[in-house]
Amino acid sequence: MSTAISPTAYNYKVVRQFAIMTVVWGILGMGLGVFIASQLVWPELNFDLPWTTFGRLRPLHTNLVIFAFGGCALFATSYYVVQRTCQTRLISDSLAAFTFWGWQAVIIGAIVTLPMGFTTTKEYAELEWPLAILLAIVWVTYGLVFFGTIVKRKTKHIYVGNWFYGAFIVVTAMLHIVNHASLPVSFFKSYSAYSGATDAMIQWWYGHNAVGFFLTTGFLGMMYYFVPKQAERPIYSYRLSIVHFWALITLYIWAGPHHLHYTALPDWAQSLGMAMSIILLAPSWGGMINGMMTLSGAWHKLRTDPILRFLVVSLAFYGMSTFEGPMMAIKTVNSLSHYTDWTIGHVHAGALGWVAMISIGAIYHMIPKLFGRAQIHSTGLINAHFWLATIGTVLYIASMWVNGITQGLMWRAINDDGTLTYSFVEALQASHPGYIVRALGGAFFASGMLLMAYNVYRTVRASDPAEAEAAAKIAVVGAH
Ligand code: HEM
Ligand code: HEM
Repeated sequence: MSTAISPTAYNYKVVRQFAIMTVVWGILGMGLGVFIASQLVWPELNFDLPWTTFGRLRPLHTNLVIFAFGGCALFATSYYVVQRTCQTRLISDSLAAFTFWGWQAVIIGAIVTLPMGFTTTKEYAELEWPLAILLAIVWVTYGLVFFGTIVKRKTKHIYVGNWFYGAFIVVTAMLHIVNHASLPVSFFKSYSAYSGATDAMIQWWYGHNAVGFFLTTGFLGMMYYFVPKQAERPIYSYRLSIVHFWALITLYIWAGPHHLHYTALPDWAQSLGMAMSIILLAPSWGGMINGMMTLSGAWHKLRTDPILRFLVVSLAFYGMSTFEGPMMAIKTVNSLSHYTDWTIGHVHAGALGWVAMISIGAIYHMIPKLFGRAQIHSTGLINAHFWLATIGTVLYIASMWVNGITQGLMWRAINDDGTLTYSFVEALQASHPGYIVRALGGAFFASGMLLMAYNVYRTVRASDPAEAEAAAKIAVVGAH
């Protein structure tokens, strides 16, 4: 083994930047989530100002948690994983830096324009055309950096985690560019290139695959690296991971119409979306089982390792939400769940339980390594964070199930003479206790993020920049 310091040390700088911003945007996005959840309990919090109304802050919440928090976690981990598994530095430091600053600029753009009311009105694609173009440029650069690094890899093999990250990058670019095709009429206003049912179909082809590729496939890439690493066990079945990959990406792309049941979309398209969604259960659970079984022989580590707990519980929530999703895609079930808080509960089972928990676990795993420390400042604080996050998620989704089913049943209750048994306001009143519990659950989850920030800050403060650089170098030298 060579002892010389390799000149081709990993680029950890960009990973460090994205990792820190994951925590920052996590706090802001979830804090805003708690605020809009509180608006649904105490409407006075809308303050009678256009900029602070629920309608404008809700899309800011979704943009901050999905693209700022989730996006930074995906950038940080994918840059980390691709370098370590390909045993090479990122192909270009300046392009990587451009993706960092460009991505932060898009987020700042969202923070400024969404409360001002500038929006395309397409869910999860609200940013108006100048920001959408910037986002597309940053994303294509990301693709160049990621795939360029894979091309110049020093290993023969492309680790499966990179396949998932790669699919997430390619499909997100395709969805974003196609769904954003529009005609600008001013700097802040554009009209979609599509109309009517076609527009709706394209939007939910985008929307569902934003879930499938951004919130799922990318995070599965994370799972395939960090679960085996933290458990110190090889992945349970490499063969299953390959089947998982091809089945997942082949099926997801067809499931979008389950967002448009009982609409003007042709019936056959709705049924196709339903069928594909049900089949999607199989690859989803294949992946979940593959991750879980990686712990065979290492289950005892869960007793002492809260980072592993984050990773494993995230898989449990992934399994739960990918069981619930196919059920909700069945048309008769959807006729009860659609428009109700059940959907919101399903979303956050995936978002808090799966996306946020796996990201938090991965960031805790990386932070000491990125900053050249032997370990994180406090494992006890990670444990406290774990419990706040788990209890918070359970409170959130349980209250939304109760609310959702209550609303669905009250809305469809009919008297003998054919009139509605309950008015809308009565269903809203019945939902009020659930909204209080949800806000409380959200506050639990968000306060856990504050503990994380403190723990990360203490770890970073104790680190020496020279040690951090040496850590990046040793990693490559050690692999010779
Ligand atoms: C402290 C944590 C959080 C709280 C309190 C919270 C709260 C909320 C609230 C109140 C809504 C609006 C619900 C409605 O319109 O009735 C919402 C929507 C949403 N949130 Fe969160 N949220 C949190 C974290 C997250 C995270 C981490 C993600 C994603 C990674 C996320 C993704 C979403 C999405 C996608 C929607 C829109 C759902 C839909 O349209 O069906 N949230 N959130
Ligand atoms: C096999 C997997 C899954 C299937 C088949 C599925 C299916 C569904 C269905 C049927 C809906 C309700 C559509 C409606 O009535 O409007 C829905 C909504 C949603 N799901 Fe899933 N789901 C799956 C997994 C996930 C996961 C893992 C996440 C998050 C990480 C997620 C995030 C969402 C979001 C954000 C929405 C709300 C979209 C909106 O209306 O704004 N889903 N899903």
